[in-house]
Formats: sequence, structure tokens, C-alpha cells
Amino acid sequence: MTVPHRLLLVNGPNLNLLGTREPGIYGSQTLADVVQLVTDAAAAHGFDVRAVQSNHEGVLLDAIHDARTDCAGIVINPAGLTHTSVVLRDALSAVALPVAEVHISDVREREPFRHHSYVADVAVVHVIGEGVPGYVTAVGRLIDVITGQSEG
Ligand code: DQA
Repeated sequence: MTVPHRLLLVNGPNLNLLGTREPGIYGSQTLADVVQLVTDAAAAHGFDVRAVQSNHEGVLLDAIHDARTDCAGIVINPAGLTHTSVVLRDALSAVALPVAEVHISDVREREPFRHHSYVADVAVVHVIGEGVPGYVTAVGRLIDVITGQSEG
């Protein structure tokens, strides 16, 4: 079976406010900037991108389920759901696509409740605390995994 040359980009709750939300932590780039950067990075490897952001967990779960049929991997910043959501983790595990987990801020250096990720061990790539450019790093590393150039 041929691998689809498409990635799903998932951004979780509150990331629609990027650019104005706590810029000292998350910077001044917007969600539209993130989507453009990821789209350009993926295109450089011959992949296209379907992007979803929602403040509603079920919308994110449906998008992850839908990726089964036409995506080769998932780049996800689960935002606060990282630290709370078994169902999001279960969805990622269920679709069995390679996953890259991204956090703009360095969650390891922030409040203790941000130190645990339910997603971490279902992801093969982790890019944490590199700011918005971390999404681009994640795309490159995930595509290396998809194309068999890396084990993750
Ligand atoms: C975040 C870190 C999370 O702890 C937080 O809830 C977010 C964004 C990040 O990108 O740094 O919403 O995932």
C-alpha cells in the first residue's frame, strides 16, 4: 500500500489565540503563521497538510480518527489536553499513525502539572520548548520516520 503524502496538524485548546496569548511564553506568531510554516515545511518534502484547531476535545478526536484513511502521520500540540486527556491519547494510539508531539514552551521547566504528558509515549517525535520553529523541526523528523530514514 502506498503511504499518503499528507500530514494532519492538530492544535488543541487556546492555540487559536497564539500571537496575543501570553506572548512572553508563546511568542507573537499566530496560528495562521504556524499553519503556513508547517505547510511550507511539509511541501519541501512533497507532503501536504490538513490543519485543525479546536477548543472542543471531540472535534480533535474526530479529526484524528479521520486521518486513518488519508494521512501518513500527525503533528500535534495538544495544549492543555496534554496533561489531562486519556481520550486524546487513546485516539492517537487507536489510529496507529506516527505522531510528533510539539510544545512551544518548555513544559518541563514550568508548573509541575505540566510535567506529565499523556501523549508522550504514543509519540515517536518530541519537540519541546523550541518555540514556533519547533513545529518545523517536528515535520522534518516525522517525515524522516514516515519515509524510513529514522526510527524516530
Ligand atoms: C503548550 C503547553 C501546555 O502546557 C499549555 O497548556 C498550552 C500550550 C505549549 O505549546 O507550550 O496550551 O502545549
